[in-house]
Amino acid sequence: MMRIVQIAIALWALAAAVAEAAAPIGINYGRLGDNLPPPPEVVQMFRQNGVTKMRLFDPDPNVLNALKNSNISVALGVRNQDLQLMSTNTDAVNGWFNANIAPLMNEVAFEYIVVGNELVPGDLANFLLPVMQNFQALLDNRQIKTIGVTTCVATSVFGNSYPPSASVFADNSKEVMTKILGFLAYVQRPLFINLYPYFAYASDPVNIRLDYAQFTAAGVVVQDGPLGYTNMLDAMIDAFFWSMEKVGVSNVGVVVSESGWPSGGNGNLTNPELASTYNKNFAKRITTQNGTPKRPDAVIPGYIFAMFNENQKPPGVEQNFGLFNPITKQPIYPCFPL
Ligand SMILES: *[C@@H]1O[C@H](CO)[C@@H](O)[C@H](O)[C@H]1NC(C)=O
Ligand SMILES: *[C@@H]1O[C@H](CO)[C@@H](O)[C@H](O)[C@H]1NC(C)=O
Repeated sequence: MMRIVQIAIALWALAAAVAEAAAPIGINYGRLGDNLPPPPEVVQMFRQNGVTKMRLFDPDPNVLNALKNSNISVALGVRNQDLQLMSTNTDAVNGWFNANIAPLMNEVAFEYIVVGNELVPGDLANFLLPVMQNFQALLDNRQIKTIGVTTCVATSVFGNSYPPSASVFADNSKEVMTKILGFLAYVQRPLFINLYPYFAYASDPVNIRLDYAQFTAAGVVVQDGPLGYTNMLDAMIDAFFWSMEKVGVSNVGVVVSESGWPSGGNGNLTNPELASTYNKNFAKRITTQNGTPKRPDAVIPGYIFAMFNENQKPPGVEQNFGLFNPITKQPIYPCFPL
């Protein structure tokens, strides 16, 4: 009897943990700065702040070596400029894997290979699927099941995205998105999506409510048929789910591969307080809450953009998305623990 009670309690605790701890938050380690700390120090900063997931835009050997035995899981990008060759040349795909992942397989927790960044629509979009297929074939050959293959898109794929239920992929994105989603459905991996309520808000601060963009609204702000939205991020995620459904895909998940708010660069729409509020609330949403109004059961992992302010990006807000000052290595505003 005691045993059964113990098992029941254990199962209940497990169910509660699954329901609550949606997913740990990750951070994008963007590296377009000439004043960034050395990679081993950056890995230390992730660990000291309890951040267990990192997204990298390219396979820098110094960064990958610094990640050895760090217990940080890594989403590793394949650079846009490498895709054309990799789309037809499996030696190039093998070479990339053998150089960057194979030697570190036992010491670094590679979670995803992310093929390309924000390429739909565009001239390189048609290379995405063949490169993803080539990586998947390599992983299948080597019987590696722990690494997923995906790509990362932005809201540029939409023809319409408001209200969420009216969302559709744009004519110039629909065909390639349908093929990519077919692949992701087959391999059962999520689509990476970059979502910035900040840019939507900044484009129309008169009509879009700040509290809706920052997860601080007290109740529903946008009612879409039976679905009520208290925050814009959920509406953007559901715009993807609706658009996918309209091309016949209802079983592919999403990962919010980038989201954030700049701490400067655009007058009173950007300051450390607003950035802190957004990033804290985004992290809270990812780590404590499953589902969206449309997909209540979906687990939606996410990564904040970004670790550092990057001084080699275009001036203005683009240089000000960082959580940390790269020179002092201090947080730009209080936001830890996330
Ligand atoms: C590695 O990370 C996982 C999940 O974040 C954690 O449960 C585990 O305790 C960590 N292991 C070590 C050796 O730090
Ligand atoms: C920015 O300033 C304008 C003009 O004073 C004001 O109407 C608006 O509410 C301010 N926005 C924020 C986010 O503080």
